[in-house]
Amino acid sequence: MTPAQSQLVRSVTERFGPKVAITDPEAIAPWLSDWRGRYHGITPALLSPGSTEEVAAIVQLAAAASVPLVPQGGNSGMVGGATPPADGSALLVSLRRMNRIRSLSPAGGLAVAEAGVILADLREAAEAQGRRFPLDLGARGSATVGGLVSTNAGGTQVLRFGTMRSLVAGVEAVLPDGSIHDGLSALKKDNRGYDLDQLLIGAEGTLGIVTAATLRLVPGATARAVAWVGLDSPASALTLLRQLEARTDSIESFEILPDETLALVLGHVPGLRPPLGSAHRWHVLIEAVVTDVEAESPLILLERLLAPALEDGLAGDAVIAASEAQAESFWRIRHSISEAERSAGPAVQHDISVPVDDMPRFMIEGGATAEARFPGTQAVAYGHLGDGNVHFHVRAPVGADRERWYAEDGPRITRLVHDMVAAAGGSISAEHGIGQMKRAELERLGPPSRIAALRAIKRALDPQGILNPGKLVALAPEPSRP
Ligand code: FAD
Ligand code: MLT
Ligand code: ZN
Repeated sequence: MTPAQSQLVRSVTERFGPKVAITDPEAIAPWLSDWRGRYHGITPALLSPGSTEEVAAIVQLAAAASVPLVPQGGNSGMVGGATPPADGSALLVSLRRMNRIRSLSPAGGLAVAEAGVILADLREAAEAQGRRFPLDLGARGSATVGGLVSTNAGGTQVLRFGTMRSLVAGVEAVLPDGSIHDGLSALKKDNRGYDLDQLLIGAEGTLGIVTAATLRLVPGATARAVAWVGLDSPASALTLLRQLEARTDSIESFEILPDETLALVLGHVPGLRPPLGSAHRWHVLIEAVVTDVEAESPLILLERLLAPALEDGLAGDAVIAASEAQAESFWRIRHSISEAERSAGPAVQHDISVPVDDMPRFMIEGGATAEARFPGTQAVAYGHLGDGNVHFHVRAPVGADRERWYAEDGPRITRLVHDMVAAAGGSISAEHGIGQMKRAELERLGPPSRIAALRAIKRALDPQGILNPGKLVALAPEPSRP
């Protein structure tokens, strides 16, 4: 621990007690690596404040002593954003103790939740009041409000409700100088210049530590239906989605996966069964939800809307879950993909978006190009087709030396995939953020005007670079790598 870090830890302990400054290496260890195990950091202390005032005091002390801080929520992020640097220079700030839902107003359709509130708990609390918080993802049992806000998370309901950005009505955060920005009042109209709340959403902890957020709730579901459809290609899947969208606005989720991915999940998670009795190259999971008791049952709606697709051969086969348990088992397949993929050996992951109508072409051509240029690899694309966002993983050839492949082929494959994305006018980070994983690629692909603007914002708000150093964007341009 450096003298400045020791002094900071001592001051925090004196002011707020030992539970706010943890230095026991065993207690800290679980929080030093990312979920995929690709990034590993070191820190001499994990600070665990219990209130916004404690966060503000910690940031003030850190700013005065120039000690960098890394904010962390559930540590479920996919880009190494919450992993501290490997040189031990930064302290971790965990928001997990700040886990109170300060208010939940079903009538107003708003909830004020502290940064450490876990997504599953928030969803449950809203449902208990007849409302829904309409954002869901596989890490719902660990991802926190602060992490979701700071990554502008997406997930499986973006099709109807948008990403976090459209679900956040206001943010409370501690800025890099230790001052508190209070945007929780959630004004419907507020044109006092730049929107600080929106700037903090997706900032990955580089501009402020989010301490709470006002979140939008939508009406509770009166009924839902979940269908599993087998078809021959992503193009057929997108045509099906367009047909559904033309006839109803009840479709909340439309998730695609190839047959290999289904097989991987079924082999990895005990107790799951294939939803269809027939074999198909591609599968989609569709969820329709109605919120009006008078509305047509979503089961009948989906039966009626899927029938023409089955008759004219657009869809090969389909089943609508006959019970909540069966619906949950379909979703369990979808939400287990990341875990199954993690167990499938070395792979490079890309979280990409292109214009929605171009995604079917990209999935097929992009996969074929990657496999042809890197013989023995297997490209797999799955995810949020209706958002023009898939997770495009390229697995190492069977028997490849893990470390060598990650060091040599991995970055070359990533460059190829990202170049194809850039050529298609897409984004190299659709929903997971930049973190440390994509920082060099963000700088490489720019455009320079965008990077310059990001850097100018970072410098203006955090001139010392004390919040989440090494993530998203550097204060100054870095020498380019060979
Ligand atoms: P962390 O991982 O702890 O942190 C993520 C980033 O936010 C870091 O940069 C961190 O510094 C910063 N941060 C955390 N808390 C704060 C705070 N209070 N203030 C400021 N900065 C903060 N993501 C999607 O978008 N869509 C998906 O469908 C999806 N599915 C997933 C499925 C699985 C199985 C897993 C493991 C992850 C998935 N993710 C998905 C990624 C992840 O869940 C999200 O990025 C989530 O928002 C991270 O929340 P967290 O609390 O775990 O944040
Ligand atoms: C998902 O949609 O499952 C995720 O965003 C996580 C992943 O990349 O697998
Ligand atoms: Zn996703």
